[in-house]
Amino acid sequence: MKRKISLLIATIMVLTTIFSFGVSVSAAEKTVIKWATQADTTPATQDLIDTFNRSQSKYTVQWVQMTNDSGQMHDQLMTSLSAGSTEYDVISMDVCWSGEFAAAGYLSPLDLFMYKAKLTKPLFNSGSLAAGNYAGKQYALPLFPDLGLLYFRSDIVSKADAEKLVSGRYTYTDLANMAKSYKGKGGTTDGFVYQSKQYEGLTCNVTEFTKAFKLTESGLADMKAFTTSDFVPKNILNYTEAETHNSFINGKSVFARNWPYQYAMLTESVKPSQVGIAPLPNGSTVGGWLLGVNKKSKDLEGAWEFVKFAAGKEGQFIMSTKGAHVPGYNALLTDPAVLKANPMLGFEGFKNAVLKTISRPVSAQYSKASDAVQVNVHKFLSGGQDLSTTVTNINNALK
Ligand code: GLC
Repeated sequence: MKRKISLLIATIMVLTTIFSFGVSVSAAEKTVIKWATQADTTPATQDLIDTFNRSQSKYTVQWVQMTNDSGQMHDQLMTSLSAGSTEYDVISMDVCWSGEFAAAGYLSPLDLFMYKAKLTKPLFNSGSLAAGNYAGKQYALPLFPDLGLLYFRSDIVSKADAEKLVSGRYTYTDLANMAKSYKGKGGTTDGFVYQSKQYEGLTCNVTEFTKAFKLTESGLADMKAFTTSDFVPKNILNYTEAETHNSFINGKSVFARNWPYQYAMLTESVKPSQVGIAPLPNGSTVGGWLLGVNKKSKDLEGAWEFVKFAAGKEGQFIMSTKGAHVPGYNALLTDPAVLKANPMLGFEGFKNAVLKTISRPVSAQYSKASDAVQVNVHKFLSGGQDLSTTVTNINNALK
């Protein structure tokens, strides 16, 4: 008996030694590449990292989780990169500020790497690529392109209304009327949810309500009418994407304005079969995230290795099928396996939204302009400033 126990202990010790030795050897052999990117409510980012790491004998990517607030992430990265820090090798950047980072000289140009890897520009989403291009050099490749969408409960909305929404031929007033009349149906407590907190998401929503600032006055008046109505939650002025998707995926709202990722979250109470997709009345704001390499990274080759994988066919397949993102690698847009796993890409309402995209203000000092929009609009919506002062301040900021 004693012999048996000591044999067992010896076996366990040998196995433990082999196991821990194996782990420490492989970890020690691989160079760690640190990737600064946001938290992800879909399984896509983790799967992307795991798949890359499994394929590698040389590098291992570590996820440095950043805030989901784009403006705050911008500031955090700015502080680090402007100090010449090497703490991140690969960084995710919002399309609205990637150009600023490239212009500031924080990023390594990718042209030579791309040339060697035979990755040409037409392979990628053109809008995303343009956002990552500065003075003729390519500084970033797409992690995922984004656009604003209207999600609606197809099991609650009438067929006629669904058709109208999908066509894109409706106004914010039509949306308000529908939100009013369907609120409360099918166990919902709200008609419409969207992003109105004072942060970058507000700029995206203002861009849509105002048709890219062509209808600033009437668009803001619409937004105010929505804010004070009883078909939106009382605390809509604190809503970001997270509050929006929590409401919609849990069956609390009939309509929601959000990005494509929300489709990947329809697994709990509300199922994909209960949901339709439509363009927004005045067009969908273009967004998205890009991957760049910190110029000061101690391992530019390793950082590029990951960017190449993530933006390439395999990486984009994961982002699109696990995260419901629009693929940034164009060939996947018509790939049957992608369309099967992410059927939203083939929906008529989604295709109509792609045809009606609009962009946030283009400015050399984008962050400053967007801050001015956020501060002024939030003040107006919460009752602290009148409409005409708000419009004047915004026009001045966007000049
Ligand atoms: C999404 C978009 C990004 C936008 C942000 C606002 O992440 O991809 O472009 O700035 O939402 O919250």
